[in-house]
Amino acid sequence: MLILGVETSCDETAAAVLEFGDENAPRVLSNVVASQHEIHARYGGVVPELAARRHVEMIAPVLEAALEEASVSVKEIDAVAVTRGPGLVVALLVGLSAAKGLAWSLGLPLIGVHHLDGHVHSLYLPTGDESNAPPPFPHLGFVVSGGHTDFYRVDGHAEATHLGGTLDDALGEAYDKVAAIMGLGYPGGPIVDRLHAKFLAENGNGAKVVEFPRPFLEDRPYAFSFSGLKTAVLNYQKERGLYLSDRNLPPWARPQEVPEEVACAVAAGFQEAAVEVLVEKVSGVVRREKLPAVSVSGGVAANSYLRKKLAERAEGEGWSLHFPARKYCTDNAAMIACAGGFRLKLRGREGFMDYADMDADPSWELGDAPDE
Ligand code: KG4
Ligand code: ZN
Repeated sequence: MLILGVETSCDETAAAVLEFGDENAPRVLSNVVASQHEIHARYGGVVPELAARRHVEMIAPVLEAALEEASVSVKEIDAVAVTRGPGLVVALLVGLSAAKGLAWSLGLPLIGVHHLDGHVHSLYLPTGDESNAPPPFPHLGFVVSGGHTDFYRVDGHAEATHLGGTLDDALGEAYDKVAAIMGLGYPGGPIVDRLHAKFLAENGNGAKVVEFPRPFLEDRPYAFSFSGLKTAVLNYQKERGLYLSDRNLPPWARPQEVPEEVACAVAAGFQEAAVEVLVEKVSGVVRREKLPAVSVSGGVAANSYLRKKLAERAEGEGWSLHFPARKYCTDNAAMIACAGGFRLKLRGREGFMDYADMDADPSWELGDAPDE
């Protein structure tokens, strides 16, 4: 069975072809991602109208490239899976319209996938590493990306219950803002991660970093808050006169504001604070929920320091820890095709033929939140 996946919820136009056989792990025949980072870099974040315009330009070539790379003709596809929400509505509509038109014209089922269900399913794509198997059910699914920092109890391929998450910014968003404050570029996550590693390489493990707050480290076990941490970084810069350039200039025309050694020390301090909070919360929630395993997905799951620190904690406490391959952490369509394929297997083709009125749902919630 061949599934075509389509993803346009934010700033990547993506399409992928997956083959589902009898075995549980699908094969990825192609995974094409056209990123718009260079378009949004100058603004330090995603501009919805520019994103939508670029998706319109890229959707047809990306779909064609995914089919070509997989060496399959569109007539061989058995079903189309597409991100229906959450995300930027003007961006979602581009992928949904293309997927719907394609499925309709070929008489195929169309599976509307929740973007976070896609991230959770990135764990069921091949990792190329036998020691990193897909997580068992039930497990704690932790999705940490540019738009979400949320805990789910995952009981099956179509069963996720929301347990809690951030009350304000997502962690990826905080990474992006911290990098923007220092004029370092977008997306901020990989840049901050690299500067932290550089700081450790130059100063040694255990070197003193800039101290930043660790919000909710010891209270609100299921909740996060990152806006105060982000503001603390901003205040640190302001207090040292490192945030003085002309605010009337657009961000890309401002001079480099922060010397590299300061940027490294701030990046290290921010990342140590954020990762300490994440590790503590994951450890607390997995214990409270009495779950045997944790999966981490979303763009921030690519973070090398987070991977290292969580692995140490998992080993010490005896739960199993699962990460997707790095290329499936940030937004892609293979994870959407994967979530769609498992749903199709569960519900059958007929369950996905009635989609004429399917609309984008920019604020769709995955699962229900139980009372805390
Ligand atoms: O999952 P994703 O591609 O998009 C959303 O669904 O939001 O995540 C993008 C986010 C960005 O905020 C980016 O800065 C962050 O993931 N990110 C990282 C790393 N790579 C990407 N954050 C920390 N460390 C990384 N290595
Ligand atoms: Zn995402």
